Amino acid sequence: MEKILVTGANGLLGQSIIRQLSGKNYKVVATGRGPDRIDGKFKGGYFYEAIDITDGPAIEKFILDQRPDIIVHAAAMTQVDQCELNKQDCYNINVTATRFIIDAAKAINARFVFVSTDFVFDGNNGPYTEGDEPAPVNYYGSTKMVAEKAVMESGLNWAIARTILVYGVAPTSGRSNIIGFVKDNLEAKKPIRMVTDQVRTPTFVDDLAAGILLIIEKKKQGIYHLSGEEVMTPYDIAIEAAKYFGLNQELISRSTSEEIKQPAVRPVKTGFNISKAKKELGYQPKSFREGLEALFG
Ligand SMILES: NC(=O)c1ccc[n+]([C@@H]2O[C@H](COP(=O)([O-])OP(=O)(O)OC[C@H]3O[C@@H](n4cnc5c(N)ncnc54)[C@H](OP(=O)(O)O)[C@@H]3O)[C@@H](O)[C@H]2O)c1
Repeated sequence: MEKILVTGANGLLGQSIIRQLSGKNYKVVATGRGPDRIDGKFKGGYFYEAIDITDGPAIEKFILDQRPDIIVHAAAMTQVDQCELNKQDCYNINVTATRFIIDAAKAINARFVFVSTDFVFDGNNGPYTEGDEPAPVNYYGSTKMVAEKAVMESGLNWAIARTILVYGVAPTSGRSNIIGFVKDNLEAKKPIRMVTDQVRTPTFVDDLAAGILLIIEKKKQGIYHLSGEEVMTPYDIAIEAAKYFGLNQELISRSTSEEIKQPAVRPVKTGFNISKAKKELGYQPKSFREGLEALFG
């Protein structure tokens, strides 16, 4: 039985991967920062160890002791504005720690699946295919691009799964995402401003996790774009979510990126062409509405 190691196991994606692996024929090893916060319903069936991945000797020893056949590296500093404000932390987590994990993977010849982002692109020409040239516009995107290069040049058997604006429910992850933000605010009758000048193809976290497992099961290498298929702005997402939950759409006002003034610049129009993943993996994401039904239906 093959052994899979998942980093970032306490996160939104990590928890979904662990949940989906629980029904499959793999030994599962999970690691995260601090204690195991993977949703209690899915406890068991995996071994967890708390490791800060920026502690090179600790993560390398763990990997060499565990000797996984496959490493899914999902841990990252994902808060885009925090990355802009704390560049050193962002680099240490997203680049240096990725290099530690790559080095350990090389020592045991593990297959390596790296999770990356649409923010490697500049947003001038979306939707993007796997062959398009990265040109990040913010620090987070730059670190993910540098980490991607390290993966590609590693000599490992590698795959990179890029994704976009992931939504789901993982209260124990300690972080919200666009759906939680909209739902919580509208339920509290608080007005929200959502931008109309950014374009994305939002991704249901369980679709992304399923796509990553398809990459593993089909032993695929190379880059795969795994996102939803619907082109939406954050404003569209908020309106659709409000309609689904029967919450007051009038609390949602249109805004522009300029007006919101976030520390990190966002790429304007990303979105993915997911034809490669559909054809080669049999990846088929849910519609946004179906994603909401799967989460809250
Ligand atoms: N969410 C999105 O919209 C999105 C879009 C594109 C790409 N991605 C990529 O998808 C992957 C998964 O992200 P996600 O959505 O699951 O985000 P997440 O919920 O923020 O999960 C990331 C996890 O990484 C962990 N981590 C951060 N620094 C660490 C460190 N030094 N040592 C150990 N663990 C550390 C975090 O731990 P703590 O919980 O303790 O902070 C967190 O659990 C990331 O590679 C991200 O770049 C996400």
